[in-house]
Amino acid sequence: MHAFQRFQQQFTTYLERHPFAGQPPALYEPVNYILSLGGKRLRPAVVLMACHLFHEEEEAALPAALAVEVFHNFTLVHDDIMDEAPLRRGQATVHQRYGLNAGILSGDVMLILAYEGLLQAYEAGQAADLLRVFNRVAREVCEGQQYDMSFESREDVSIPEYLRMIELKTAVLFGGALEMGAIVGRGGAENARQLYEFGRNAGIAFQLQDDILDTFGDPEKFGKKVGGDIVQNKKTYLVLKALEDGSDLQRDRLRHLLSIQPSDERAKVEEVRALFETLHIREKAEQVKADFRQKAHRHLEAVKAPSARKAVLQELADYLLGREE
Ligand code: IPE
Ligand code: IPE
Ligand code: MG
Ligand code: MG
Ligand code: MG
Repeated sequence: MHAFQRFQQQFTTYLERHPFAGQPPALYEPVNYILSLGGKRLRPAVVLMACHLFHEEEEAALPAALAVEVFHNFTLVHDDIMDEAPLRRGQATVHQRYGLNAGILSGDVMLILAYEGLLQAYEAGQAADLLRVFNRVAREVCEGQQYDMSFESREDVSIPEYLRMIELKTAVLFGGALEMGAIVGRGGAENARQLYEFGRNAGIAFQLQDDILDTFGDPEKFGKKVGGDIVQNKKTYLVLKALEDGSDLQRDRLRHLLSIQPSDERAKVEEVRALFETLHIREKAEQVKADFRQKAHRHLEAVKAPSARKAVLQELADYLLGREE
């Protein structure tokens, strides 16, 4: 067992002991459904790990970890509506199973449950500090999601714009999770800042990898519909780099493919994937991912905490950035 798995386990046990009950069941059932599907539990694990860097008893961070994971799952429920995704963690998405309205409203209540959890568990001063970070990143996630949606119908998205978009929609939540763990562990402002930067850079690498797997992943392991980004005309790094590196002919063809909604989705996905392969786009994306991973590492090194405890965070980052699910 990897050292970081202890934290994931600790969180999962806590989650199982804290189901979200309430009336009417139609509101809470989808909440428990999405949370029970598992997933990697990365964000709650890093909340606990960040706290543990400075504090022997990381249990104090469990409510913060739960708030972050509930928020993350809320974003997934609404993201799957926006992305018209049929599969999540190898199972039907919430809106597929329970309907669109249930997806919207159960998602809404999850955001509120996250706030409640933070307010109930911590004394006023610490709750305010946690909520400040939480609100900042939660708003940024919405901003990132809006950029992601707007980019679907834009043809002139630049690579820096894409990187900013994934920073907002994905990376800041990793950073915020670490920062919140540091707040609970009372690790001090400078350590919290370095941990945020570690999470932000690792989170950018993580989203680049998610985009790579969305096109090149193994459908058995990925748990989501492979090729979904291409079908939705997402402006991922893969697309933008291909537009940059392709010949005029390849560029025109890709632009055309990304402007249509054909009945034969598979043919479109296959043609775009083949074009990426010709242009070695996957390797280029892996290189950018490696650069962000390296940057993340340097910020973790700057955190003043026992190296053995920091090594667990580094191990998790190394493990997940080589993931296939
Ligand atoms: C999915 O996040 C959303 C992205 C930011 C790519 P995860 O890949 O962490 O999803 P789960 O929680 O493990 O299912
Ligand atoms: C994830 O982006 C961002 C959020 C859920 C906020 P994606 O749309 O790529 O996530 P997946 O691939 O559906 O998990
Ligand atoms: Mg999305
Ligand atoms: Mg999605
Ligand atoms: Mg994705």
